[in-house]
Amino acid sequence: MVPEQDVLIISTIWSQLAQRAKQDNSLHLADLFASDDGRFDRFSLEGAGLLADFSKQRITDESRELLVKLADERQLRHWLDALFSGAEVNCTEGRSAKHWCLREPVDKAPLVHEQLDAMEGMVNRILERHWRGVQGDAITDVVNVGVGGSDLGPLMAAFALQSSELPDGQARPRLHFASSMDGSQVSQVLQELNPRTTLFLVSSKSFTTVDTLHNANTARQWLARGLGLDYDDASLLRCHFIGISANAERMAEWGIVPTNQLLFWDWVGGRYSLWSAIGMPIALTVGMAGFREMLAGAHEMDRHCRTQPWKENMPVMLALVDVWNINFLDIRARAVLPYDGRLKHLPAYLEQLEMESNGKSVSRTGEPVEYDTCPVIWGEVGPNAQHAFFQLLHQGTQVIACEFLMTARRYTEAVHSASVAELEGQHALSNANCLAQSRLLALGERALDPSLALPAYKRYHGNQPSTTLVLDELSPRVLGALLAMYEHKVFVQAVIWGINPFDQWGVEMGKVIATDMLGVLADPEAAYGLDASSLALARYVAEKQK
Ligand code: F6P
Repeated sequence: MVPEQDVLIISTIWSQLAQRAKQDNSLHLADLFASDDGRFDRFSLEGAGLLADFSKQRITDESRELLVKLADERQLRHWLDALFSGAEVNCTEGRSAKHWCLREPVDKAPLVHEQLDAMEGMVNRILERHWRGVQGDAITDVVNVGVGGSDLGPLMAAFALQSSELPDGQARPRLHFASSMDGSQVSQVLQELNPRTTLFLVSSKSFTTVDTLHNANTARQWLARGLGLDYDDASLLRCHFIGISANAERMAEWGIVPTNQLLFWDWVGGRYSLWSAIGMPIALTVGMAGFREMLAGAHEMDRHCRTQPWKENMPVMLALVDVWNINFLDIRARAVLPYDGRLKHLPAYLEQLEMESNGKSVSRTGEPVEYDTCPVIWGEVGPNAQHAFFQLLHQGTQVIACEFLMTARRYTEAVHSASVAELEGQHALSNANCLAQSRLLALGERALDPSLALPAYKRYHGNQPSTTLVLDELSPRVLGALLAMYEHKVFVQAVIWGINPFDQWGVEMGKVIATDMLGVLADPEAAYGLDASSLALARYVAEKQK
């Protein structure tokens, strides 16, 4: 049963939190640390290979107590039970959201494991160089054609885990990703590849996304030309295309042969789908055992989220801290800053996961919400961001919440020609910078010598809040736990805000208008009822193309 959420969000507890925020506004993180030796212990959590330190957030025992009460008032327990029991938590689409089910053991989810096993067969054939192109050559390059959740998650995780070891007898193919609808990526990728040794994964939950279908068509034409075969040639389709979708019919219509179809289900949202066969690029990077380890790490986080009391619950506490920042401290942006280059694509993945899920202004019951929801999220590899936008974090006019990520253990063996000692030196340097930045942001000039008389342009107020997440190591298991933690955090926030995190109607409307615009671009003069700007732009482009 999906619980009724009839509690007005602007409740007594909400008002108490607002009152508390007014009082706490004058607090400085430097003072909070100076007056409290136990702050780190009380405001950090450990579990599933992760440490989450939110002691550098502007939170106190009193505000945390109230936030926990808010979670109860918003019926968080019922909503988590609803999510994990498969109730229709996606109310506008009449669906459950069972991405967590993709991480369940075989006895709980036999259909899921059927598809995992089917994927395993394909993955092993590719890794063992038994998957052959139409002319008998072993496949050496795999291109993932997909966009949004069918691209960002697999790209992020495959990139993060590419230094993992594969079992003897298996060799990783080169992986490529083509998502952009303008053809820039696919044309670049194809230029480097040999059609005889290239396999395409056409990844699309709906199998109707024009971006993906156009890229896939370009790839198919390129293969047909390069191999001297017809576009519809059955062996071309059998040897060079795998389809991954929740829509078997559309996959078959496009030409994916039945034995090359991997399925998942409507109850897996696109941005939550990397645990399904959409994660095949990850499995091609870490092998199937590694992929199953990633699922196990996520499953561990599922259990943690389901069973831990709110104060000990990592996704719940991180969600509540965000709510505190956004709704009570008026902090409307969050920078995601991994101090491990392997997590380079994490910010883009989180931008979709969080902003497509919680970028909503209407409640579940169809009322406009009276408070802010998802903040603006952006990010970059931390050390590089230091040389780009950190100035704004340090001395700009806005308060921005930061999320630092670092790994405790990293290099255990030489990579290419660099020695372990050299690389460990670099790892230490990066971690030192991570700690230095979060310390400086929190304490400001008081992190150095508080007695210094600095000119105004060197003054440094600090009090910028941050959370630091430490991964014991960047293994498939810990990465799985981290990503599941983010998924649950997004859900908890949606519960507090009373919104549906599982639809994306704003995006859908854009797709409809784009179809109309194709006609306008083809013949701007025939356009009817268009605004002056759009019409003038279409005319300008058409004129330049003459
Ligand atoms: O346009 C938004 C969206 O529906 C995302 O939610 C999704 O991840 C992406 O498009 C791709 O969709 P599909 O996997 O169906 O091609």
